[in-house]
Amino acid sequence: MKTTLKGAVIGYGFISSKGHIPAYLKRAENDGDVEIIAVADICEGRRVAAKKALPLARIYSNYEDLLKAEGANLDFVDISTPPCDHAQIAHAAFERGLHVLCEKPLTTSIEDAKAMLEHAKRAKRVLFPCHNYKHAPVVKAIRAIIESGKIGKVRSLTLNTFRNTHAKGVTEWNTHWRREKKISGGGIAMDHGSHTFYLTFEWLGSYPTAVTAKMANLEPQKYDTEDGFSAVLTFPTGVAHAHLTWTAGVRKVIYTVQGERGAITVDDDDLQLAVMESTDGPDVAQGAIKWKVEKQSIESDWMDASHVGWFNSMFDQFKLAIKQDDFVGKEAKEAYLCVQLIMSAYRSAEEGCREVTLSTQTPV
Ligand SMILES: NC(=O)c1ccc[n+]([C@@H]2O[C@H](COP(=O)([O-])OP(=O)(O)OC[C@H]3O[C@@H](n4cnc5c(N)ncnc54)[C@H](O)[C@@H]3O)[C@@H](O)[C@H]2O)c1
Repeated sequence: MKTTLKGAVIGYGFISSKGHIPAYLKRAENDGDVEIIAVADICEGRRVAAKKALPLARIYSNYEDLLKAEGANLDFVDISTPPCDHAQIAHAAFERGLHVLCEKPLTTSIEDAKAMLEHAKRAKRVLFPCHNYKHAPVVKAIRAIIESGKIGKVRSLTLNTFRNTHAKGVTEWNTHWRREKKISGGGIAMDHGSHTFYLTFEWLGSYPTAVTAKMANLEPQKYDTEDGFSAVLTFPTGVAHAHLTWTAGVRKVIYTVQGERGAITVDDDDLQLAVMESTDGPDVAQGAIKWKVEKQSIESDWMDASHVGWFNSMFDQFKLAIKQDDFVGKEAKEAYLCVQLIMSAYRSAEEGCREVTLSTQTPV
């Protein structure tokens, strides 16, 4: 028999109104396996918008009241507030015996991340982060190429994320919260770093052991979070260079994956695969080495910041984790490692790019 998961969304801002809720509504219509019965938002304008989008849902002005009134009828909570509140909402949900789908970054401190993983394990409830870039069609294509063995073992990566501005929240609340450290916990590394870092874990097939980082803030009079960030990550299997900026002239990602026998280059939807055809002979100058180059375009809707099209593939994994009692699975552990990495990179940048070692262990 098909079960319908009943959920509540906390925070009806950009990501929930443009990404999560439209995806849930489509899923409810197509599969009928999810229903959002309640929403909480601290901003009145957003509660009005939520009522319009979900006329049958009950709307609350804070998560505490929602959990008190609805907790017994819920299966999960979707945390879509800014990062400073993720941990306290997750703890309250676990206390009510609810599963948690949580937007990235999981938390803004390593202590909070540890406590969240431990609470999920104790409560026997799933903690699942929104690591949605893993579900972008072009990222799925990269995964398939690496798994095919065509480029051999991956040895190094570059991941560039260019943005022409910091991401903005809805206008009714606090549009520029990503530039206020007390709400965001940090700038582009805190906001976007998780996406970059969990992709490096997957592509290099291991977890980093050290990081060195540098950051910049071109508007220090106005904001207290970084708008530029560069880091080098050391892995047992290779090296990754991460570069993220909110001050670029374009919005795009450019990723390169270098393997023993070839490479993948991605520029948004455009993917180029180069595979060595012959490796015998001294070097390329003698014409001994040739590459077979294939190009394809894989529509991934990078310009749609809500990434609504990637949501249901991720929700399938959340649902599977619930079914399998995988309370603190790979994704949750990687979310913890992302927070550790971000905090360690901040320490490195503050201490003149000192190399900071990273633990590959998670608390659970
Ligand atoms: N995975 C992705 O691709 C992606 C994309 C965008 C945003 N996000 C994440 O989603 C989260 C929200 O970002 P956003 O862009 O939607 O921000 P936003 O400012 O547009 O929305 C935040 C909403 O939360 C409400 N809110 C704030 N504190 C609250 C609280 N304690 N309880 C209830 N409601 C509260 C605000 O009123 C607002 O409506 C962040 O963690 C962000 O990193 C993820």
